[in-house]
Amino acid sequence: MVVATNAHHADHVVFKDLRSLPRSSVSELLLSLQNLEKKQFASNEVFPFDDKLLAKQNTAVIVGVLQLDSRLQLVAYAVCVRWNHRLLLHKICVAPAYRQKGMGTKLMRSIIDRARQWSCRGIDLWVDEANDKAQGLYSKHNFEIQQSVPDYYGPGRHGVKMCHVLQP
Ligand SMILES: CC(C)(COP(=O)(O)OP(=O)(O)OC[C@H]1O[C@@H](n2cnc3c(N)ncnc32)[C@H](O)[C@@H]1OP(=O)(O)O)[C@@H](O)C(=O)NCCC(=O)NCCS
Repeated sequence: MVVATNAHHADHVVFKDLRSLPRSSVSELLLSLQNLEKKQFASNEVFPFDDKLLAKQNTAVIVGVLQLDSRLQLVAYAVCVRWNHRLLLHKICVAPAYRQKGMGTKLMRSIIDRARQWSCRGIDLWVDEANDKAQGLYSKHNFEIQQSVPDYYGPGRHGVKMCHVLQP
């Protein structure tokens, strides 16, 4: 299992749809995704990165990877779901060693590209009101607050819905 720890190769990270990668790399990346996801999110928010995911045609996993020797090292990922001509950005995460180096921004560009390929009219997401870092990334990419829901993530953890409009 390989999870990114080396922060010196940020310029070489490439962003791909998980489905477009060779089957052998996908299996290993699914393990890295599970591992990073478990480290970064509370148990009730952990996304199930399993084989069944690849069969869901309305779901795309975008990964930021580094080619190291013969292996792909996971640096960042996003889970996107297509729904009624909109893209729901379900998850976005950059490995801790690679944060604040523009990876979130590059990932967001790939997400917006994917939304255009799917002919979506907009991108929606929910974020914890206290998550200033993620909200900073979203605001920078023209996401605007649509709604706030008290206790959305649990008692005292308010949720904010943000949307990005895509021009036809
Ligand atoms: C949110 C997250 C994806 C940002 O990734 P990143 O690679 O650090 O983002 P970037 O380096 O591209 O920064 C983009 C913008 O995000 C905001 N941002 C990122 N890190 C920040 C920090 N530590 N403090 C404040 N704002 C921050 C800023 O607006 C920044 O723009 P700037 O550099 O022009 O100031 C990353 O912090 C992360 O994975 N967090 C844990 C998972 C998470 O909370 N995901 C969201 C909910 S699913």
